[in-house]
Amino acid sequence: MSENPFNFTRPAQGDNFYNRKEETKRAFGFIRSSQSFSIIGERRIGKTSFLQYILSEGAFKKNDADFREWIIVHLSLGSLFEVSKETLVQTIIKNIEEKIKIGTKSGNVFGELNQCMRELALKEKKIIIALDEFEIAENILDYHFSYWLRSVLEHPNLLAITSSRTTVAEISPNGKASPLFNIFGNLFLDLFSEKEARRMISDLFSRENKNIEQEEISYLTELSGGNPYFIQFLGFNYYEEKKREKKVDQIEFQSKMFGLLKSQFASYWKSLDEKERDFLANPKGTNNPTGHILKRKGFLIEEKGKWKVFSPLFEKFLQSEKEEIMRKKYPFAKIMSLSALLMSIFLSLSFFVDVDVILATMIIIAIITIPVYYLRGR
Ligand SMILES: Nc1ncnc2c1ncn2[C@@H]1O[C@H](COP(=O)(O)OP(=O)(O)OP(=O)(O)O)[C@@H](O)[C@H]1O
Ligand SMILES: [Mg+2]
Repeated sequence: MSENPFNFTRPAQGDNFYNRKEETKRAFGFIRSSQSFSIIGERRIGKTSFLQYILSEGAFKKNDADFREWIIVHLSLGSLFEVSKETLVQTIIKNIEEKIKIGTKSGNVFGELNQCMRELALKEKKIIIALDEFEIAENILDYHFSYWLRSVLEHPNLLAITSSRTTVAEISPNGKASPLFNIFGNLFLDLFSEKEARRMISDLFSRENKNIEQEEISYLTELSGGNPYFIQFLGFNYYEEKKREKKVDQIEFQSKMFGLLKSQFASYWKSLDEKERDFLANPKGTNNPTGHILKRKGFLIEEKGKWKVFSPLFEKFLQSEKEEIMRKKYPFAKIMSLSALLMSIFLSLSFFVDVDVILATMIIIAIITIPVYYLRGR
């Protein structure tokens, strides 16, 4: 039995990591100049995969960087048993000590990390501290701790890489300007190009010698919109369908996938602000800044001078949200137009039928339709 080559549950590693050539170049530009940076991207866009890839020996080699020059400490804040300033700093120190022997015991973790950096500098060692899921630190990044962190980051032998949904400057517990502003360069991850997505789909299918037609590659590329997670998710399911059926019913497949991805779309929708939601529901003007933010987040694609929602599946989700927005903005719009329609029917019929009969019929229709309309909206 052939093994499904697609994977949508774990970060992509080794040969399963595709594309991101430009972003990799930018990352190594930062690394070579010892500049701290943040990997920023929407949920499931591939931050962890990218972070793991650029910290691999293979990526260092390909980008002419000396892997042995660096001590690499890589941790995900999601794996901390408790998110506090002390635990975070303690875990970083423990991870450094696992890589290199240093004798720092000052009794105070914050002093210890600074001591650690000085000792590493004396040994002429450079260090990368990579912190995945950095937004989890939001509640501990108060002004005082951020200032302290900034002073640590000033050590010339230290480079920090964070990954999160928003920039480090935006991660601050009470919306106050963060002292970490300006310390991190920003590296955004968005969608793969159509060509990149096609190549990835075709390559993964060919690994298991599964035949896939050009038309099917186009179909999956269009449906995924170039989002690596959707490529993996749709590819995985399409592969399974192909194992069962010679010809996949694409309309049925699309509606099945919509059902499975609806909650993912809902969580994207929840994470957007009102301005972004309004723009997504009705995108226009390619020089609109909100449009460009949504493009960077991987929700819109610029095509022939127009915005296009990245995937027809997400477009379908937006359609239902659009109706909801209209319902909220103009709660009586439907009722008003319905009343106008009924009124005109009433006037035309009154020439031929007894007025009482028409009135009674209309009241019955109203009694049935109005509650149905409102209950559907809930
Ligand atoms: N460059 C890539 N090549 C192939 N697959 C990828 C790539 N980037 C992401 N993926 C796929 O997308 C899915 C999500 O990737 P990943 O977990 O890295 O995203 P993330 O942004 O870290 O997600 P989260 O926001 O949940 O932390 C994974 O299943 C992975 O296989
Ligand atoms: Mg991740």
